[in-house]
Amino acid sequence: MLELRDVSFSYGGAKVLFDVSLSVGAGEAVCLLGMNGAGKTTLLSLVSGLARPASGSILLDGAPLPPRPAGIVAAGVVQVPEGRRVFTQLSVRENLEMGAYLRLKKGGRAGRAAVTDDLARMLDLFPVLGERIGQPAGNLSGGEQQMLAMGRALMARPRLLLLDEPSLGLAPRVTAAIFRVVRDLPSMGCSVLLVEQNALGALAICNRGYIITSGQIRFSGTSADILSDELLREAFLGPVNGEDGVENGGEDEATSGATSGATSGATSGATSGAASGAAFGGAKDMRDDPRRGSATQEDN
Ligand SMILES: Nc1ncnc2c1ncn2[C@@H]1O[C@H](COP(=O)(O)OP(=O)(O)O)[C@@H](O)[C@H]1O
Ligand SMILES: [Mg+2]
Repeated sequence: MLELRDVSFSYGGAKVLFDVSLSVGAGEAVCLLGMNGAGKTTLLSLVSGLARPASGSILLDGAPLPPRPAGIVAAGVVQVPEGRRVFTQLSVRENLEMGAYLRLKKGGRAGRAAVTDDLARMLDLFPVLGERIGQPAGNLSGGEQQMLAMGRALMARPRLLLLDEPSLGLAPRVTAAIFRVVRDLPSMGCSVLLVEQNALGALAICNRGYIITSGQIRFSGTSADILSDELLREAFLGPVNGEDGVENGGEDEATSGATSGATSGATSGATSGAASGAAFGGAKDMRDDPRRGSATQEDN
């Protein structure tokens, strides 16, 4: 479905992606794991058409990606941006309908009926949104806003959903609820490319993963391969049964990674970093990104 071949990208003179190759097939949930500044958001912005690769190619169903963001959305590729970015003044319902804008615009009565059906499906998926359907999105908690941002994206009926750190700043329990929905999307006909720092949680719900550091893909494989590779675990996924309380063993249920994040969160004061930070706790080139400073502490 989606294929990146040797994609490179620079901001001005600073090269941030180096010959990145990555694919997402139909029916797959694939995660891209890496720390702050690794190039994850930049990669998604290339797939969304917000920027163009300096070299390499991006293919959708074997053909070049449409040139403009609107064309890419129309082709079924929709991104949920980092930091949710819902329309805070608009109601939950209006936000969701916004996601179906293209269809409402040209769909006539049948289009409107289909959008009404889809809205009901979103409320099934995220019942809490139904309870708040008339409220301004700005009143929602961070977790609810993340659900709304996902619901809004799904209202466009994507075939491929791009998720940029949906767990960022959320309490482990909320992350687990969101990850359960992400896990189920492929069976609903929507493939997923999930960008995360919460490596264990992401690997628990994705069938494959890529690890990116400093703009280069260092490893790719099945989630089981990544989880069972001692060196990778040590380098990227944090200490095995480490001091920080992360339970790494015995993944026997799809959401157990997210749940293990919950364990660590609970034992370390439920900071948002507990879910994401601990998962990359053993990484060598961990660095703080000042842009992220404001986005952390948000308990939901
Ligand atoms: N608009 C920008 N202008 C210049 N450099 C940027 C810009 N956005 C990101 N970068 C830099 O590009 C690199 C990759 O950033 P990003 O893709 O946001 O990483 P991630 O999403 O993995 O945290 C970082 O070094 C970051 O500082
Ligand atoms: Mg990012």
